Amino acid sequence: MIHTSAPGKIIFFGDHAVVYGRPCLSIALAQRLHVYLKPRSDHRIFLEAPDLNPPVPRTEYPFKNRELSKRLDFFERSLRKFESRVSETDRKKGFEITTSSELAPGLGSSSATIVATIAALALHYNLQLGAEELFKMGCELTTEVNAAPSSGCDVATAVYGGFMRYVKDNVPRKLEWIDYPLIAVHTGKKANTAELVTRVHEKRVKYPSIIDGIFDCIGEIVEKAEKVLASARNPEGYQVIGDLMNMQHGLLNSLGVSTDEIEHLIQLSREVSYGSKISGAGGGDYLIALVNPNRLGEFRQKLHGHSIFEIQLSEEGVFSESGQFESHTARRRTPLVPSARVR
Ligand code: MEV
Repeated sequence: MIHTSAPGKIIFFGDHAVVYGRPCLSIALAQRLHVYLKPRSDHRIFLEAPDLNPPVPRTEYPFKNRELSKRLDFFERSLRKFESRVSETDRKKGFEITTSSELAPGLGSSSATIVATIAALALHYNLQLGAEELFKMGCELTTEVNAAPSSGCDVATAVYGGFMRYVKDNVPRKLEWIDYPLIAVHTGKKANTAELVTRVHEKRVKYPSIIDGIFDCIGEIVEKAEKVLASARNPEGYQVIGDLMNMQHGLLNSLGVSTDEIEHLIQLSREVSYGSKISGAGGGDYLIALVNPNRLGEFRQKLHGHSIFEIQLSEEGVFSESGQFESHTARRRTPLVPSARVR
């Protein structure tokens, strides 16, 4: 049995502007998406994704159901990407894939699914894929299946893991993580990332210099945040980060990706935190707040009724949990991405 997993993500700073070449700071989460691949003795292929919404029951590939085939387009495209690189014999090796997710929607589960699936397929077909290849393939697949432009940030975070500075189409640079007291709050609404990214794109077409100015400003906040975060270990440092989060949120709001409900939650959370902002596309999903650990109880009370979790970093990106490489390494878990490759 092959077992791979990849982390979800939260964007700390730089949402949306990262699609247009500005930097972002992204955090790989402890919550992961797992892919289990069991080889079969025949050439048939089955897929089951009980945690998808709606769930995918055990189904044979090629999918006969049109709707399912559209939803799982990435899987068909992934297989096609491997076709040219795999021998005729290997290509006929059947398998069953089952996924299991610790990720709520809005935490990068689509990219984690793509990355963990192509990593499992590479192992199944005995292909040695390096991190950059996985990253490139993941970005290509995301672009092919998404109806909107994408930065590749979610894919980079799923592949490399850790706390990182990412610029579109570049290998991310890892940053030191100091257990920032960062809390994620679910807004109670599922966002449509493609729709929101398209909305920002349309605004940029209509008001190019203004929107580019906003992106530049978001980028400048990212640069400042990166510097401050390196030494923010006390309330004064946290307050600067909180201020930067608040400014960043204001700019995201001006792009049209906030809602009345989000603004209400942002106001509530700011009463008991250093600062808060949308994380990701906006429109729903998660917001994040930097909370003084002594005020966590108060924060929970204020945001009562909303699902909340403390952000825990995963230093590891995609890896194989099945130990196929155990003879090459003393580690139980085998990173598919050697950390030395992460610059
Ligand atoms: C979505 O998780 C983050 C966005 O910045 C889009 C992207 O980076 O592709 C909104």
